[in-house]
Amino acid sequence: MFSIKTKQVLGVTAMVAIVVMALSLLHLMDLARTLLEESQARAELIANAIYHQSSEVVTSQGTAYDELRSSASVRLALESAIYSEDVTDAVIVDPTGTIIAANDRDRIGQTVEPRASLAALIAEGGPAQLRAVYSGGQTLEWVQPMNMDDQPFAEIRIGLSTILVRRDLNQSLQPAAIAAGVALLVAVFVAMLLAQVVLRPIHVITSGLSRLGRGELGTTLDLRDDEFRDLGDVFDRVSAQLRAAAPGSANPVQLNELSRRIVKLGRLTTGVAHEVKNPLNAMTIHLELLKTKLGDARAAAVHADVISQEIHRLDEVMQGFLKFARPDAVDFAPVDIAPLLAGVLDAIQPQAGRAGVTVERSCGDQSLRVSGDASRLRQAFLNLAENALQAMPKGGKLSVSCALNGNRVVVRISDTGEGIPAEHLERIFDLYFTTKRGGSGIGLSLVYQTVSVHNGEIDVESSMDRGTTFAVTLPALQSR
Ligand SMILES: Nc1ncnc2c1ncn2[C@@H]1O[C@H](COP(=O)(O)OP(=O)(O)OP(=O)(O)O)[C@@H](O)[C@H]1O
Ligand SMILES: [Mg+2]
Repeated sequence: MFSIKTKQVLGVTAMVAIVVMALSLLHLMDLARTLLEESQARAELIANAIYHQSSEVVTSQGTAYDELRSSASVRLALESAIYSEDVTDAVIVDPTGTIIAANDRDRIGQTVEPRASLAALIAEGGPAQLRAVYSGGQTLEWVQPMNMDDQPFAEIRIGLSTILVRRDLNQSLQPAAIAAGVALLVAVFVAMLLAQVVLRPIHVITSGLSRLGRGELGTTLDLRDDEFRDLGDVFDRVSAQLRAAAPGSANPVQLNELSRRIVKLGRLTTGVAHEVKNPLNAMTIHLELLKTKLGDARAAAVHADVISQEIHRLDEVMQGFLKFARPDAVDFAPVDIAPLLAGVLDAIQPQAGRAGVTVERSCGDQSLRVSGDASRLRQAFLNLAENALQAMPKGGKLSVSCALNGNRVVVRISDTGEGIPAEHLERIFDLYFTTKRGGSGIGLSLVYQTVSVHNGEIDVESSMDRGTTFAVTLPALQSR
């Protein structure tokens, strides 16, 4: 689904994101604690100030509440409390929780609601503090008891809003968030660079394999300085072996073996052919003798002639078969195709001239070499050229081209002759298939055999009255 590169980038980024988040959380808790402690310090300061004002106005236990309630300085101290950061209210309550004096006069006489203690929250851990600051809005409380004659008689309560603490926290968080963002961006960039470096060997291997696939045998990998060096060495060895085993490179051992087998097969078939030919020869001789002895018995002579003709035909078939199965060894050697074709065209030139056929050869300047048996290849191309000429009794054009296509040499022999009917196309390479008077039908069989022995292919394209093209493809000899 994802490429390795994407996965790697995502992985590294996620790791960095987790670290950044963990650090941010720690930083956040630290900040929350600091802010809460600062609030507590402020509340303590305010409470102390109110305490001082109160102790100055109170003269006796009996009148204390009235004195506090009516004192202008105490009220001022309470009112000014809320100008301090995070503070929402400041009140003095009696032990029953009834408000004696407050920054807001309307609340005098009311009972205070119980609130969470700021001191208790500070004593708790970071997670609890963060939860308190970020879970909705609540008011915390700092309580300062007031005693008279060692008896608690009132409390100063300072209210602090967590919403205000949260606002402060968010403000001081901004630079941290920017830093985290930058860290993530850097992480993505570094991860991409890393992926490039780490994945290089894989790219090298992939491109090597695809070059090998395209037939660039002997391709090597540039993986000298990597942990993948062993893999690179194996690849290079396999590549070299492929190159050595490729047919185009004419591995002498393999081709000689092939050649030997063909020779053996040839000997076998020619052995049989000779066994047939010998009695045929004997029959011919004895038939001639019989004819002379028959003298003027004309009726019998007619039958003897028929037998003689048939024997002649059989003899031709045998000759052709012998040619096809000739037991000559196949001698592989580097063969330059262009001059070989030039020789073939020279040989047919007189015949072409008589038939009014113009001959054209285009092979470029490139040297096109194959590993092969020059005389067999020459014979094969000669057969194709002769067929082409025979297809153009009233003149035309014979074009021969050769070219390199990848690691194959392609030779095309085209004529503008009569063409081959579709129903004949698949039979033309059959031994003895011919449509010509006096043809033996061996030519294309030999061509096919030669091309096969050279590990090549032959294709034919033909359209009636337009002409025919035979394309012979042979493995090119790799120039090392
Ligand atoms: N260039 C061509 N144009 C038209 N038909 C062709 C062409 N080449 C081959 N053929 C057809 O294929 C048949 C077989 O060809 P092949 O060369 O095997 O035998 P052949 O030419 O008839 O006899 P020979 O043994 O003398 O070559 C031919 O008889 C002909 O019908
Ligand atoms: Mg022929």
